[in-house]
Amino acid sequence: MDNKEEIEKKYDWLGYYSSTKNQPPRHLLTKALDLFFKNKTGIALDLGAGAGRDTIYLLKQGWSVWAVDREETAIKTILRETPLNLQEKLTCYNTDFLDMELDFRFDLCSAQLSLMFLPPSQIQSVIDKIYTKVKVNGVFVASFLGYQDDLVKNKNIPGSDLEKLRQYFSKFQVIELEEEIKNSQNSLSAHNQSHFLKIIARK
Ligand SMILES: C[S@@+](CC[C@H](N)C(=O)[O-])C[C@H]1O[C@@H](n2cnc3c(N)ncnc32)[C@H](O)[C@@H]1O
Repeated sequence: MDNKEEIEKKYDWLGYYSSTKNQPPRHLLTKALDLFFKNKTGIALDLGAGAGRDTIYLLKQGWSVWAVDREETAIKTILRETPLNLQEKLTCYNTDFLDMELDFRFDLCSAQLSLMFLPPSQIQSVIDKIYTKVKVNGVFVASFLGYQDDLVKNKNIPGSDLEKLRQYFSKFQVIELEEEIKNSQNSLSAHNQSHFLKIIARK
């Protein structure tokens, strides 16, 4: 079974999209906007956009957004949830990160809990590919799961640690690198311990 089939067997993406579609944007994204894009907009790339919580927020702030996801249901959800008057600034791209071709350069790239689904041996090359597509002074924000997350422990999602993130983003200037461990439920499953790794990096 390949990595995609294994993950599809483990995840109910439909359930995930319906429970996250009306959620506020990820805090890491709004933090990066506050730090670097106060009263500014540009072109953003949302990698693994899911139900579009970050994509739609960015559109509402005036950004043009490329939303990439390999799940057709994700793309359909984003299109359904995006107000009509914002759709001209939205480009949906239904593809796997490994096959993605990008003609633009981006001011901001966000990959929230998405790159971790790649085969671990491919994560670096995808980040390196994105590096070439981020403008100078552009920002890349990403989150991954750490080894202490119940999904990593019980569902075999590849975990990471801060050192690995530092390596992945070594071509960038690391602005913030932090981890958060908490007992809670998240939208991927009814699990108890979350362990998030978060990075804000700049080219
Ligand atoms: C956990 S969801 C996160 C969605 C959204 N970023 C959020 O924060 O709610 C991960 C998303 O990444 C997408 N994804 C995972 N691996 C992918 C790949 N190799 N290429 C494209 N999309 C991928 C999944 O289809 C899913 O929609």
